Amino acid sequence: MKPDLTIDPPNNTSSPSSSSFSAKNNPSGTPSSAKLKGYPQCLTITVLGASGDLARKKTYPALFSLWKAGHVPFNTKILGYARSKLELDEFKGKIRLFLKDSSNEKIEHFLSICDYVQGEYSSIEEGPPCFSGLNEVIEELEREVEVNWKENAFITPSTSAAENKKYKRVVGNRIFYLALPPVVYPSVCAEIKASAMSSTKGSWTRVVVEKPFGKDLESSEKLNQSLSALFSEEQLYRIDHYLGKELVQNLVVMRFANRFISPLWNRDNIANVQIIFKEPFGTEGRGGYFDDYGIIRDVIQNHLLQIMCLVAMEKPCSLSPDDIRDEKLKVLRCIAPVSTDNVVVGQYSTGPHGQPAYVDDPGVPENSMAPTFCTCVMYVKNERWDGVPFIIKAGKALNEAKCEIRVQFKDVPGDLFESRRVQGKQARNEFVVRLQPDPTIFMKMTVKEPGLDMNLAQSELELLYTTRYQRVAIPEAYERLILDCINGDQQHFVRRDELVAAWTIFTPLLKYIDAGGMKPYPYPYGSVGPYEANALRERVGHQTNVIGRDITWEKHGLNSQEY
Ligand SMILES: NC(=O)c1ccc[n+]([C@@H]2O[C@H](COP(=O)([O-])OP(=O)(O)OC[C@H]3O[C@@H](n4cnc5c(N)ncnc54)[C@H](OP(=O)(O)O)[C@@H]3O)[C@@H](O)[C@H]2O)c1
Repeated sequence: MKPDLTIDPPNNTSSPSSSSFSAKNNPSGTPSSAKLKGYPQCLTITVLGASGDLARKKTYPALFSLWKAGHVPFNTKILGYARSKLELDEFKGKIRLFLKDSSNEKIEHFLSICDYVQGEYSSIEEGPPCFSGLNEVIEELEREVEVNWKENAFITPSTSAAENKKYKRVVGNRIFYLALPPVVYPSVCAEIKASAMSSTKGSWTRVVVEKPFGKDLESSEKLNQSLSALFSEEQLYRIDHYLGKELVQNLVVMRFANRFISPLWNRDNIANVQIIFKEPFGTEGRGGYFDDYGIIRDVIQNHLLQIMCLVAMEKPCSLSPDDIRDEKLKVLRCIAPVSTDNVVVGQYSTGPHGQPAYVDDPGVPENSMAPTFCTCVMYVKNERWDGVPFIIKAGKALNEAKCEIRVQFKDVPGDLFESRRVQGKQARNEFVVRLQPDPTIFMKMTVKEPGLDMNLAQSELELLYTTRYQRVAIPEAYERLILDCINGDQQHFVRRDELVAAWTIFTPLLKYIDAGGMKPYPYPYGSVGPYEANALRERVGHQTNVIGRDITWEKHGLNSQEY
């Protein structure tokens, strides 16, 4: 069934045809003037691997949210592509399960701009190129937009024949979103290049790829080389979905738009920075896949390192994507490959409530040495950060779900309250950005406990998003990143040189672990991780604050000390 090209986005009251648009400049996606001149434009978003998990759970729901909010440009069509033989209704049924809205009508309206094309990911020798069918479908959609446009008010009877001729081609922009295992990226990209690139004047083609981008420096570069032979860096959008998270995006604003933060943000004041990622569940059936990667490749080398760059980078010259990525790259280049002395790896064993050990997961070899937990310490050797440990901790099957950045400040010199210390330690200020759960920014401060005595307590200056921004829907990371791709903004996508620098930091350690050089410490499912990780953290200078009751986290049923 062909999708109906005359469908308007929600709230659209004007003519169904449009000439030039930009989702950024024209967020409603509607023509700003009925007299727009120029070529008609349309956008086809092809989700390759549309039958898979990521497409159903993340990509389509994100596209739906963008479409509902009017951020998807006018004349957009969404094509699902996969090998699975699915009838269109069957495919839509699978997608529908993950689309959330009180109005069924809206969901159906969105699904009416979606279509499904079945096909292979690589051509058979001597056969037709496997994406030629897909290309024909896209061209047909583009032709319909053109015909539709010509038939509408934009070509008025008074338009001269010469002018009419000028409007003979639609500008057909194309996004290919690879929701596929990386093993098929090279062949799929070659097929896109061979037969599915946009060819109309003034149009663009963008290709979105998902992590993992290789397993180490060599494999990542091999993949990069094959993609770069086909597309320019401006056409490639490497997603690290952590860069689309609301509070990660807020880091640049917090750091560079607040006068009181900038003078403190350096080695003179900061004792250490922790970036923590905790999951309360194990691999749960995905152990076969995970065993090849381990926690360092899964979250540290990409998501957490990207966050670290935003915490550590210098102020960029401007907010342009490349100025920001240049500063992140400089941070990465100042980090030496991680030393094995500064790493503790762990693997979860059975838990106290009968939870399974990692090696009990189907597909995991019983002698697996894959780390499901890692604490590692890195140093940024530059003027701002020399000597400040960045402590990265990530683990599965831990005691809670949490992802946060904790910046711990140094002790106050000339301590007036020395006699009131708990266990001989001064409580330190901390600046905490919690990405999940419950996005929150808070500062830990030492205050006088209310009452007649001069007792000290730690309290928080807190910005909890769910109470402060109650009526604001916080967009999902994928929504923002797809919108950025539509708008051609690569700020939150990883550039090739960043990827090279990131793999350079971790490849020697990963090779050492893969060769069996580091036996993971066991830790019980549901615990805070191996004891040795806490010992490492303390050795490099982190201090657990012991003063006072932590009211905020009691309120949320969490224990702030257990990280
Ligand atoms: N799932 C997530 O939440 C998530 C999060 C972050 C990143 N990612 C990344 O996103 C990509 C897709 O993830 P996913 O979980 O959606 O993967 P998936 O479900 O395993 O695969 C997606 C689709 O690709 C096709 N496919 C699977 N294995 C293939 C193979 N060996 N050769 C050719 N085609 C194959 C299948 O479609 P057909 O057989 O119908 O063609 C499948 O439906 C991966 O690179 C993954 O690492 C996923």
